[in-house]
Amino acid sequence: MLKQGMSEAVKVTVKSKSAEASHSMRKGLGIQALCLRAKTPIEFDCRKADCGICIVHVINGAENLTEQTPAEKDFLIAMRADPDERLACQCRVLGDVELFVDEF
Ligand code: FES
Repeated sequence: MLKQGMSEAVKVTVKSKSAEASHSMRKGLGIQALCLRAKTPIEFDCRKADCGICIVHVINGAENLTEQTPAEKDFLIAMRADPDERLACQCRVLGDVELFVDEF
């Protein structure tokens, strides 16, 4: 239970073929911020919707991620991404979300 006055926390669950972990983070922060302090299988490179290495599948809670940025939208269209795919470097988390990451 959060103390009054503290920022609201959200839960981000990250799954891959070999692992699954849930992390608590402050609502409104980016997935990048979470990955700076927690070990996850999500990788980053360009951090500006250019490379696609941070692509994740959203299993649950897609409505709890911020809307696609224009750059992300362009990239996902160009890559013919599936509707459940997002670029983690472009997403801020507004509520609980469950992600799946392909490991290569
Ligand atoms: S890190 Fe390159 S697109 Fe997200």
